[in-house]
Amino acid sequence: MVLCLYFKSIVLVHKSDVLILGSGIAGLTTAIQLAKLRSDISITVVSKTNIEETNTKYAQGGISAVWNHEIDDFEKHIADTLDAGDDLCDPKIVKLVVEEGPKRVQELIDWGTNFDKNNAKNNYDLAREGGHTEARILHYRDLTGAEIERALIEKVAQFSNVKILEHYYAIDLLTQHHLGYNVTRITPDIECYGAYLLDLKSLDVETHLARITVIATGGAGQIYRSTTNPVIATGDGIAMMYRAKGVVENMEFVQFHPTSLYNPAGDNPSFLISEAVRGFGAVLKSKDGNEFMQKYDDRQSLAPRDIVARAIDSELKARGDEFVCLDCRHLDKEEFIKHFPTIYNKCKSVGIDPLEQMIPVVPACHYLCGGIQVDENGKTSIDRLYAGGECTSTGLHGANRLASNSLLEGAVYGHRIATDISNHIDQINYNTQIPEWNAFGTTEPKEMVLITQSIKELKDIMSYYVGIVRSNVRLKRALDRMHLLYSETEELYNLTVLSPQLCELRNLITIGYLVTRSASMRKESRGLHFTTDYPDKHSFKQNTLL
Ligand code: FAD
Ligand code: SIN
Repeated sequence: MVLCLYFKSIVLVHKSDVLILGSGIAGLTTAIQLAKLRSDISITVVSKTNIEETNTKYAQGGISAVWNHEIDDFEKHIADTLDAGDDLCDPKIVKLVVEEGPKRVQELIDWGTNFDKNNAKNNYDLAREGGHTEARILHYRDLTGAEIERALIEKVAQFSNVKILEHYYAIDLLTQHHLGYNVTRITPDIECYGAYLLDLKSLDVETHLARITVIATGGAGQIYRSTTNPVIATGDGIAMMYRAKGVVENMEFVQFHPTSLYNPAGDNPSFLISEAVRGFGAVLKSKDGNEFMQKYDDRQSLAPRDIVARAIDSELKARGDEFVCLDCRHLDKEEFIKHFPTIYNKCKSVGIDPLEQMIPVVPACHYLCGGIQVDENGKTSIDRLYAGGECTSTGLHGANRLASNSLLEGAVYGHRIATDISNHIDQINYNTQIPEWNAFGTTEPKEMVLITQSIKELKDIMSYYVGIVRSNVRLKRALDRMHLLYSETEELYNLTVLSPQLCELRNLITIGYLVTRSASMRKESRGLHFTTDYPDKHSFKQNTLL
């Protein structure tokens, strides 16, 4: 084998008081709120592509919050969240997020976000989604995430102490391990001193020192063949946390959205047909036009996602069909197009008029409920390290996230993390002993096919064996195959020069392994985790900590 190693001698050490990995709702809310509180500290926000390319940008349905107190109250939103979470939510965290929700949504509005209004009364138009007993979703057409991301990007640009680094890839967190200590999962007081960042344009690795680091790197949908998540969603932050020996939990709870557009061409990502479409009156039917959700739940098409996705999976297996359908033909055409212009246009672009024909849909991986364990202020098990947004396990979602609670969680935690950092950063100094990245440089991989093929294999393993319905045999098969992929990839990583593609592959394998191992550890069916070997729920609540 020809190894392409070359030496780089440039000194690449940078510093910021606070280093935020990620520019979605969690990362940017943290940056804005912190910059407002502390104009005296330097903040760097890192994005591995351009600043707006985030899961946040693709959010369609909206953000949930108790808004109309004539029909809704905190108790109802709390009860819906707990019910969806199938007894694994932390009630204290649910209460905290729900009660802070309206203030954070108001803040998004104050920072320039537009939400649709109801013309008659000039009130916000509140939508309903699965699992919500009231209409409480604020939205901007079917482009809510793009609108929020636009407003946050414009707002953050107003602060001179915030620097945005686009096309920088965080490789690993800096800890005592980089000072030569043997850090294990039981080492107390692990500390984070920043991160190694790969400049994707020059392919230089920078040592970025920080007094405090925040992981806000989003989800990991790319471990599956079919996902609504953009290609950036490779679970990097969670994998870095695991490598740094921090605590990660509840990884078995992967949410499959019931209705992604059936996509025989295998487009990545799959296009989402928002749950708000069902909230608007669309009905799930089999290909032959018969409703089936009444067999599974009284709430029918608007049952929580885990129930609807499993029902579709069961119908597809029983009938041998490739897809089920979403029937919108009875809905008001003008109103439909007004509310869902992106969905309407996408359907038209693939030859389906949703007001004339049923839309073919299938479940697709959509959201990771587990992740980096954090407390109510976003503090992780590692000192000087916070985490917020989809990469975390806060206790809000439990075993299944309630629709539109994710943007809310990102905004609430972004605010809380910023406040906590502002109160504690003065007691923390840089650690300047961290060595620079080892001298070997980085380059584009010579054997790209090894990486792309391994990614494909991982996605196949996860899709066949760790999908909506699991079993002991399937999970074991997945773990066995993943071990081989893991050792091949580590060998590649140790022998060849670093590349972003190889880093992503390593992270995807780590996430696939964590999901599969957590699923193997949970000997019951609960929320999004269903296994034919243990179809019942246990009466005790158990977290899977890794
Ligand atoms: P993201 O918005 O995903 O941002 C991640 C950031 O991390 C990006 O900037 C990325 O570049 C950066 N990053 C990642 N890895 C690295 C690395 N190694 N180095 C440097 N930077 C890195 N939720 C709702 O509440 N309501 C909805 O209506 C809704 N609709 C959705 C529709 C779709 C199609 C999808 C995919 C998700 C939807 N969700 C919705 C979920 C929600 O959008 C996400 O959970 C949420 O936006 C995540 O925000 P975040 O800030 O945690 O991460
Ligand atoms: C959707 O619009 O259906 C997605 C909502 C969510 O994931 O919360």
